[in-house]
Amino acid sequence: MTPHLYTQKILILDFGSQYTQLIARRVREAKVYCEIHPFNMSLDAIEAFSPRGIVLSGGPASIYDEGAPLADRRILELNLPILGICYGMQYLTQVLGGDVGKSGDREYGNATLTIEDDRDLFYGFGKGEGRTVWMSHGDHIDRMPAGFVALAGSKNSPVAAMADAARRLFGVQFHPEVAHTPDGSRMLRNFLFRICGCEPSWNMASFVQETVSALREKIGDGRVICGLSGGVDSSVTAVLLHRAIGDQLACILVDNGLLRKGEAREVMELFQQHDGMDLHLVDASDHFLGHLRGVVDPEEKRKIIGREFITVFEEKARELGKARYLAQGTLYPDVIESVSFKGPSATIKSHHNVGGLPDVMDLDLIEPLRELFKDEVRQVGAELGLPRELIMRQPFPGPGLAVRILGEIDRERLEILRAADAVVIEEIRMAGLYEKVWQSFAVLLPIRTVGVMGDERTYENVIAIRVVDSLDAMTADWSKIPYEVLGRISNRIINSVKGVNRVVYDISSKPPSTIEWE
Ligand code: XMP
Repeated sequence: MTPHLYTQKILILDFGSQYTQLIARRVREAKVYCEIHPFNMSLDAIEAFSPRGIVLSGGPASIYDEGAPLADRRILELNLPILGICYGMQYLTQVLGGDVGKSGDREYGNATLTIEDDRDLFYGFGKGEGRTVWMSHGDHIDRMPAGFVALAGSKNSPVAAMADAARRLFGVQFHPEVAHTPDGSRMLRNFLFRICGCEPSWNMASFVQETVSALREKIGDGRVICGLSGGVDSSVTAVLLHRAIGDQLACILVDNGLLRKGEAREVMELFQQHDGMDLHLVDASDHFLGHLRGVVDPEEKRKIIGREFITVFEEKARELGKARYLAQGTLYPDVIESVSFKGPSATIKSHHNVGGLPDVMDLDLIEPLRELFKDEVRQVGAELGLPRELIMRQPFPGPGLAVRILGEIDRERLEILRAADAVVIEEIRMAGLYEKVWQSFAVLLPIRTVGVMGDERTYENVIAIRVVDSLDAMTADWSKIPYEVLGRISNRIINSVKGVNRVVYDISSKPPSTIEWE
């Protein structure tokens, strides 16, 4: 559901840079709507998208590589402002007849920019030396195309920024989108506001308004089903749809027996407060635990849970009557990952939330959040009046506690893990860390160790605590939470959770570890 309603849009063509998503973040932070598309987007599609300006991202290739990514050069004839970043600048230089110099060495790190022309891109900066920028490039500009002038240089890159202002074509060798370029956002805002003529008007209130009316129009009098998990994405999806179509929406929460303590009940209570929401809890714990009996292989656990989720959900949905649509809380990063230049990364763990359902059930997908980043979804949640506690919820994996119980899963082990996990969450909250860390949880290990309780020898389970800091879950580091907090967690778990006599803290980063243990 592309929101054609947003009239001022920026197109970002992705040449494979690891920073492309950051460009989109910066543009949206400036309250301008943008989308990332692959570098080879067709000219027709670009014209249909109708952007106010185009940003060409960086990328790992050299313009001289065989098979180097090239955009349709007719984008230069659209009379649109273009900003080429790093590889994007080299691409511009090459197609417009300048010379890109091949260099064996990569310039990587901070550089000091000397601004020679403080109009347009550097408006408000003043001329002279002193702006720190982040460089990461091999090739460089040897000779600018006809019509271009240098706007700024650095020691190693005499042409660190260039422009043909009359044609509104700009290039920068450095990366304005990264935090290491402190004035980068200001440069991008100059491009958006001064050069492309955009206004800062994209915000979450207008998103809600426009999305609600677009959903009404698309769905008509059809029926929609939505799987609720209690996480932010599915909750916001459900509430947005409820606002748009009211009782044409039915929500299903599958309790697979692998949820955290009290979770299914809390989610039900929360949504029952939304008047008239058609809500169904399916208690399928016996079903799931039966299928998982004796299974220890992590991938097998994940596959069974994914498959059985589809079975249970489908059965309930059929019982509720024929629906035409399935609503899903897909976010923008998931969308980009599947279409980007680099393509989907190798499967480390099978993730499955409701994947496969639309085909099995012959349903059309509704994904109202597919243009949003996580923090934008949170803002939409706030806009819709969802409580902060839900909006700020830490991520929880689809296969739930199954991937946090190493080895076989049974009710007894689930009870131990639930109790320990509840202590972790409570202590992390009390220490004011819940919203600061990315995730905090307990893991139950498949070993027992010797301990002493009173005068008695014990031989019991080990709980590992995992607390990580991360921005996007792609990389993560173990969180340096205070020893006192760790101490309290350990004491409380060992004293109050029957069956545990040892607690350890996981000090591994991702990579090479992962966040979840399975
Ligand atoms: P890993 O363990 O791969 O996890 O470092 C990265 C992030 O993804 C979450 N995760 C999942 N989320 N379905 C999900 O929706 C899944 O199957 C799944 N497995 C892991 C994990 O909690 C972390 O935030």
